[in-house]
Amino acid sequence: MILKSLRTYFNNALLGYYPDTEIKSFFHLLSERVLKMKRIDISQNLYAVVSGKKYDKFQKAIDGLKKYEPIQYILGDTEFYGLVFKVNPSVLIPRPETEELVQWIINCHSEQNKETELNILDIGTGSGCIAISLAKNLSNAKVFALDISNDALKTAKQNAVNNEVEVEFIEADILDWDCGNLEFDIIVSNPPYVRELEKEGMSANVLEHEPHLALFVKDDDALLFYRNITEISKTILKPNGQLYFEINESLGERTKDLLVNNDFKSIELKRDIFDKDRMIKAIKR
Ligand SMILES: C[S@@+](CC[C@H](N)C(=O)[O-])C[C@H]1O[C@@H](n2cnc3c(N)ncnc32)[C@H](O)[C@@H]1O
Repeated sequence: MILKSLRTYFNNALLGYYPDTEIKSFFHLLSERVLKMKRIDISQNLYAVVSGKKYDKFQKAIDGLKKYEPIQYILGDTEFYGLVFKVNPSVLIPRPETEELVQWIINCHSEQNKETELNILDIGTGSGCIAISLAKNLSNAKVFALDISNDALKTAKQNAVNNEVEVEFIEADILDWDCGNLEFDIIVSNPPYVRELEKEGMSANVLEHEPHLALFVKDDDALLFYRNITEISKTILKPNGQLYFEINESLGERTKDLLVNNDFKSIELKRDIFDKDRMIKAIKR
């Protein structure tokens, strides 16, 4: 099939499933990946023939998109903080809000003495996006990353290799973790924080394809992970060590109270680019 006809076929197949602009953007992403053609190249090669495996990849993408599979899972990777991360249904697709959390940590620590090692623990690492971005950008960091999911850790390990950083991975349940004598300067976590009651407003590509283990908490215990990680941090954070959380936009004040009640100081609640309460930082006394 020639490229011009493939584009029309692709648009028509997905009509009614997604807005027109989104279908165009999927087509451009796939063309870049499968045909190595940027937007400008497409208009200049409308009569190029797309066949065999290349055509099959477009057809497979149409089939997946019709089932609302996220385009990142279909492509097999995504970009986060300027790095490429492999993603699959065992890991949450990294979000731009989380890049802001990473940026905050890097801003706070990049000026520190490079001679002093900075021990960092990322809890609920998923694809490894937070841990690996910090390891890549803070030259004095020694990064540990923990997750309960063995499949997620396999992906995260691959991402660490691909991005050429060393991260120590730990398979454990943070709600029942014997941390031994580890001590950290920084603990960061983007734990599950979506309440079951919030499912209603969520789109099919998230609800039906991203791991529920990474997303949901019970309505009556939304701060389960925050309470637990704050408690553990009282033991394994060094004095003046810093705790960073990504948070549920509706639970900013409650998360802040939790940290105040646990005697953390200098608590800062920060909004994301969408002007929602999204992250919090606190210092251990
Ligand atoms: C919201 S995702 C965050 C993933 C990644 N850090 C990110 O920001 O994209 C939460 C992660 O916590 C992990 N998780 C869920 N329950 C856990 C538990 N009890 N102990 C450790 N990790 C857990 C999930 O497997 C998932 O990878």
